[in-house]
Amino acid sequence: MNAQLNPLITAQQLGRLSQLRPTLAIVLGSGFQQAIAEMRIELEISYEKLKGFPPVGVSGHAGKLILGYLGKTPVLVLSGRAHYYEGHEMEQVTYATRVLAEFGIRDLLLTNAAGGVNRKFKAGDFMVLTDHINFMGINPLRGPTIAKLPRFVDMTCTYDQQLSQLLHKAGKLCGLKLQKGVYLAVSGPSYETPAEIRAFATLGADAVGMSTVPEAIVARQCGINVAGVSCITNLAAGCGGDTLSHAEVLETAERVKNMAARLLNSFAKLYAK
Ligand code: 6GU
Repeated sequence: MNAQLNPLITAQQLGRLSQLRPTLAIVLGSGFQQAIAEMRIELEISYEKLKGFPPVGVSGHAGKLILGYLGKTPVLVLSGRAHYYEGHEMEQVTYATRVLAEFGIRDLLLTNAAGGVNRKFKAGDFMVLTDHINFMGINPLRGPTIAKLPRFVDMTCTYDQQLSQLLHKAGKLCGLKLQKGVYLAVSGPSYETPAEIRAFATLGADAVGMSTVPEAIVARQCGINVAGVSCITNLAAGCGGDTLSHAEVLETAERVKNMAARLLNSFAKLYAK
């Protein structure tokens, strides 16, 4: 890793820009951006200005880091993420996660938009991740050993029970029954064929998406507790009947954005307790 790609340097840069030292970070995926509207912002900085951060390119993903408060809870928010399908190396995709670790983040909530594979899911549902299947064809820990971090990382309890329980409680406070299930990550960017979705269902997947898993793996290597929640923006291929489009993903995200914001707000409130 060169100096340009040293997460400690970026964490120190961030530390000079704000006094705030939250232990909770939230990565906002499609459908969850509205949470920012409820924040008291102390620092907002574009990824371009943060050393080593890759640029992000999906519509609806702004690419900025925010330090502030959700209710009374100090929180670091990453609005937008680098995706593997954009052509970034895994090292870049997970760079922000390593910065969080160096910054002192203990708990990480990863959010995303996903396609529903489980037949019981409807578009607009939220799913708490109980586990994942890495189907991206690459592991983000591939590469040289990193000093002081484990080479072989245990993934038995990737998604923290306590944090997940807080998500379910937060859902209840919002009058929402959250689904739970296994998130399968593909590299994308094409969506899946109906045959692939049938195969993934057989493998035990409840939802399918193109993010989150690399960050979860790196966070676990760094000793950060992880929780995940998906916005089921659409049913996966062959599960609904219609064809798939990014427009549908954005449409559902828009429809449920206020609920998503309330969910994260309640979560932050419960987290502080
Ligand atoms: Cl159906 N597949 C994948 N890979 N990602 C998605 C999706 C489907 N729907 C939203 N994101």
